[in-house]
Amino acid sequence: MASRAATPYMACFPKAPRLKARDAMPSLNEIRSTFLNYFAADGHEKVHSAPLVPQNDPTLLFVNAGMVPFKDYFTGAAKPPYPRATSSQKCVRAGGKHNDLDNVGYTARHLTFFEMLGNFSFGDYFKEHAIERAWNLVTRDFDLDPKRLMVTVYIDDDEAAAIWKKVAGFSDDKIVRIAGSDNFWAMGENGPCGPCTEIFWDHGDSVPGGPPGSPDEDGDRFVEIWNNVFMQFEKENDEIVRKLEKPSIDTGMGLERMTTVLQGVHSVYETDLFKTLIAASEDATSTRAEGERKPSHQVIADHLRSSSFLIADGVTPSNEGRGYVLRRIMRRAMRHAHLLGASDPLMHRLVPTLVAEMGAAYPELARAQAFIEDTLKQEEIRFRTTLSKGMALFDTAVQGFRPGDMLDGQTAFTLSDTYGFPLDLTRTRRAAAAFPSTSKASRRRWPSSASARARTGRARARRPTPANGWPCATAWDRPSSPAMTPSRDRARSWP
Ligand code: SER
Repeated sequence: MASRAATPYMACFPKAPRLKARDAMPSLNEIRSTFLNYFAADGHEKVHSAPLVPQNDPTLLFVNAGMVPFKDYFTGAAKPPYPRATSSQKCVRAGGKHNDLDNVGYTARHLTFFEMLGNFSFGDYFKEHAIERAWNLVTRDFDLDPKRLMVTVYIDDDEAAAIWKKVAGFSDDKIVRIAGSDNFWAMGENGPCGPCTEIFWDHGDSVPGGPPGSPDEDGDRFVEIWNNVFMQFEKENDEIVRKLEKPSIDTGMGLERMTTVLQGVHSVYETDLFKTLIAASEDATSTRAEGERKPSHQVIADHLRSSSFLIADGVTPSNEGRGYVLRRIMRRAMRHAHLLGASDPLMHRLVPTLVAEMGAAYPELARAQAFIEDTLKQEEIRFRTTLSKGMALFDTAVQGFRPGDMLDGQTAFTLSDTYGFPLDLTRTRRAAAAFPSTSKASRRRWPSSASARARTGRARARRPTPANGWPCATAWDRPSSPAMTPSRDRARSWP
């Protein structure tokens, strides 16, 4: 439960933030370097991203936060070789607890692969230095307008609130106190944890939404850009069992989200890196990323990144475990390539563009380029042979469909499990089958996919998504949709 802000924080701002005095917008690569260099200059060891396959935690599918590789340093299980570190950690969220796969491509912020920038103190500095360093970076080096920033602190963390007042000169209405898990970060049921303070950016009043802690907090106006965790405790089986020997700092800033802020755009797909990837996908398919085709290009751009980085880190497509998740991601992208009319395997042709953009920061990507291309190509060839069989099954199942009819659960399940049809595409095709020429509005009356899932016997808690068979470009097109506002979980790009 979040406490409510006493005084709503409202202001009117132009679209783009103030940028550091320079001629051009900073690129995503420059933003990453600025962050790492800033903390290196403050005595932090620059640590290269750990592989996406966790080296120290067999229970975790993929690394999904910057602190994961450092977990044992926080708990004291291992001795850190340096007291401070900074990294840009590769993260994947496409399975397990934080599974965003079905949203990706349809919203402004969901990604299966993202980079988490972080600075870490292993029993070295604590709250004051962390807050002061964070404030200096965002307001000086990133040159964000302090008037458009606000923070949250844990409900009883008077110390953090006092530091924010001193460092940023914030009044009480800019320091929102939040109770519960929103401002208490834990790795999971086990591991280090502690209260946190989060920095929010205000996109301005042209965007619906309220500040954190307000009834409208789920809108897109205020976005969290940085989480600073004061690691103080350790959990076992979801209970706090001890205080950490030395209080520590763990921070996480989503690079792609920070890039949207610094480039003055709202969707991650409008940032420089994604624009380049989407342009490559447009060229390769001779289609534009507009209208109904836009989500397909966005899916392809995102999934190209997660697939390529996973393959570079040694994951190969298979029918179980990590390989199965990779196969689902790859096939979802390949199905979208097919939707765009690509008659030959597409994904491998986009790898050189990705390597040109990200290979300097991640040499392992460049080293694995040939293997990534080959793996993608072979999988797409295999997928195309099963695709036509799946299409035939689908077409038979929906023959004579009328509005209100539902695709039977067994067919939906077979399409998904045997033929690799992602659910969103099954829904898209289902809607098209029943409404070959009707309006978007009438398609929205379709029975929800939740009932279809329930009938498969595989129902699981999942929020509605915009992928119910009507085209939707970004969250900003349909701000009132519940799919765009499923709580703070949406506002975070990480666990
Ligand atoms: N571990 C925290 C998070 O993921 C801060 O890095 O938000």
